[in-house]
Amino acid sequence: MEKLTYTHNADAAAVIAQTYDTPPLAYVRSYGCQQNVNDGEKTRGVLMDIGYGLCDKPEDADLILFNTCAVREHAEQRVFGNVGALKGLKEKKRGLMIGLCGCMANQKHVVEKLRKSYPYVDLVFGVDGIDTLPQLIAQKLQKHKRVLMEPAQRPVIVENIPIRRESEFRAWLPIMYGCDNFCTYCIVPYVRGREKSRKPGDILSEFRGLVEAGYKEITLLGQNVNSYGKGLEEQVDFADLLNLLCTVPGDYQIRFMTSHPKDASHKLIDTIAAQPHLCKHLHLPVQCGSDELLKKMNRHYTIEQYLELIEYARKTVPGITFSSDIIVGFPGETEEDFQGTLELVKKVGYMQLFTFIYSKRNGTPAAKLPDPTTHAEKAARMDRLLKLQDSIAFPMIAAMAGQTVKVLVEAAGRTPGTLNGRLDNNLVVEFPAEESLIGQYANVRLTGSRAALLVGELAE
Ligand code: 5AD
Ligand code: SF4
Repeated sequence: MEKLTYTHNADAAAVIAQTYDTPPLAYVRSYGCQQNVNDGEKTRGVLMDIGYGLCDKPEDADLILFNTCAVREHAEQRVFGNVGALKGLKEKKRGLMIGLCGCMANQKHVVEKLRKSYPYVDLVFGVDGIDTLPQLIAQKLQKHKRVLMEPAQRPVIVENIPIRRESEFRAWLPIMYGCDNFCTYCIVPYVRGREKSRKPGDILSEFRGLVEAGYKEITLLGQNVNSYGKGLEEQVDFADLLNLLCTVPGDYQIRFMTSHPKDASHKLIDTIAAQPHLCKHLHLPVQCGSDELLKKMNRHYTIEQYLELIEYARKTVPGITFSSDIIVGFPGETEEDFQGTLELVKKVGYMQLFTFIYSKRNGTPAAKLPDPTTHAEKAARMDRLLKLQDSIAFPMIAAMAGQTVKVLVEAAGRTPGTLNGRLDNNLVVEFPAEESLIGQYANVRLTGSRAALLVGELAE
């Protein structure tokens, strides 16, 4: 894989400096997954590199950028709605630039729709185009014409893109981009292209920089981190990468997502057991509990194999917890298939579930399957699943009372005078404390819970 290094675009910076009397302001809004949030952070970094300031409100901005998600239809509709709502602002504010980037921009029909029906959108570029943003903006400012890039995937990895992170203690660190799995419901492989792994040395140096800057939690990102290393010159797999990163001294914890069950190895689980820096938690999306449906989803594992992995993890990593993604209402899902999902959820006992009603994505194989189940029936199944999950997770969470746990303090809690801290297993505990603890580790004694929220008090 060819590697490029981002360089400052002085020409674009000069065009921007000539256009505006004072530094222009950019508003960047990211939708969707953490990978996209990280792309949004890079987009902000690039904009600052060429002279933009940042703002929190679209009304204050000279450039509004929507960094979009294409995984479900609902998210796409929201973006079109939000872009449409800017028409008035654009008419009032001469020179306001509006742009759309991210996964939606990597779909031909979206670019066409923007071209035809949203004439006030000036800039469109896809997920692989963040480093090209300076020249796109300069082109727009000089030629006064819309710059709508056609969807294209670049078989390159661009390193050293400037980044403006949202948090000073939790960081996202992509280790790979794209996806080769082609689950039949999923649009990601089409919009984010083929899998590309970053070199271990590049990941290590970014990681070291984060630890040195005081980051306490670093989440490694990839659509399927378990296939990390494919196509690299180095013989390295994901577990090797984790071991390498854990050699960096410091006070930090590592999370990672997403693990595809078909590639999750015993070696990975052994590594979680052996490395104290790794959170004892595994997000292992199963999607559904029926072998028949798993085949139609192109997932390449059976429920038996999945449960074997869970068993091995429980045996090897005492106290490990699990979370999962589940799709309800995949085309052709029968009541019996759905019962399989309920059974599986009971068997595993997930601490958290992320549940989605199937959303048809044109261009994916599943979009062509007959889908006779009504939306009302799917919603009713979802309701049953959520009720079951609550009935399993809430008692598990309540039973944690009495333990003292190490948490990373993230933010103010809902209840005045409290803070929220996140446990290893991704649960959140609310406890009274001073705001100065935000961004630090704390030991909290758990005293009880309200639904999925733990409550506690500082242990020291
Ligand atoms: N409809 C519903 N959910 C989907 N996901 C991916 N594609 C779709 C779709 N078309 C879910 C999967 C995946 C998570 C990130 O989003 O559960 O694991
Ligand atoms: Fe989509 Fe499957 Fe790739 Fe995840 S592994 S991004 S669900 S195709």
